[in-house]
Amino acid sequence: MKNEMNQAELLARVNTSHQGGGSERVRAISARIVGDLFKAIDDLDIQPDEFWAGVDWISRLGASGQAGLITAGLGFDRLLDIRQDEADERAGLAKGTPRAIEGPLYVAGAPSFKGEVVLDEGADLKGDVFVMEGQVLDTHGKPVPHALVDVWHANDHGRYSHFDPAQPAYNLRRRIETDAQGRYRFRSCLPPGYAIPPNSPTSELFTALGRHGNRPAHVHFLVAAPGLRALTTQVNISGDPFIHDDFAFATRDDLIVEVQKGVSPAGYESLGLTQPFGLVRFNFTLQPARDEDESAPKSRMARALG
Ligand SMILES: [Fe+2]
Repeated sequence: MKNEMNQAELLARVNTSHQGGGSERVRAISARIVGDLFKAIDDLDIQPDEFWAGVDWISRLGASGQAGLITAGLGFDRLLDIRQDEADERAGLAKGTPRAIEGPLYVAGAPSFKGEVVLDEGADLKGDVFVMEGQVLDTHGKPVPHALVDVWHANDHGRYSHFDPAQPAYNLRRRIETDAQGRYRFRSCLPPGYAIPPNSPTSELFTALGRHGNRPAHVHFLVAAPGLRALTTQVNISGDPFIHDDFAFATRDDLIVEVQKGVSPAGYESLGLTQPFGLVRFNFTLQPARDEDESAPKSRMARALG
């Protein structure tokens, strides 16, 4: 093999270097991405200082644990959802509730309750009290009893328990098992929108791109039941100024919910309500699962890493 090469010869060497074993799939993906990057460096005349500044940024991004923010902010989370929607359509699958971003802040193992739960108990939140309630249904509209509804949202500072040391474990994270009619409900305080952390690798890139890093107010869900496809989604609270300009591109029309204000507490006493409150009604529709793994209530990383 010769040691002096032009760009094309180097790329061919990088992508065909193979002592045996390994994975054909990984080789194909690596070859494509390295090839595309070689081309970008040449087309854009990327200078060594720019390249190494980029490498330093990637190192700091990994160390900060913000890789999952950048994937959202550069559209990859939404891209994967769009591709999954397209695959469902090609396969002729009945539509369920739209899927939406999981984000990097799901934590498994939240305390579990049957039927209903007070999510903000002991959370000392500032914000409007609201109840969200509805049913989990299959694509024929049949209620799904004993479905698991994992719910998690930010506190009034826009921060999530587990990642924010100031909050107790599993603060504002609960799992609700639906009742015999497939119903769930919970009480909490409406979360505000929030922004990417300032002075971080993520904000550095967004500043350089001239972009804001705001997410509109939202509540996350992972809904699962045997035989049905687990659904990762979120609802957006109507009226947020960034609702149509989410930095993560995650808003979906059918996931924008209205808060019905001034609802009487009659019938909601078990949630500790004695004053009028805001009510959100929302049903989750789950598609049929094609295998057991699809119905497992797993985070994206848990699913990917087995
Ligand atoms: Fe979030």
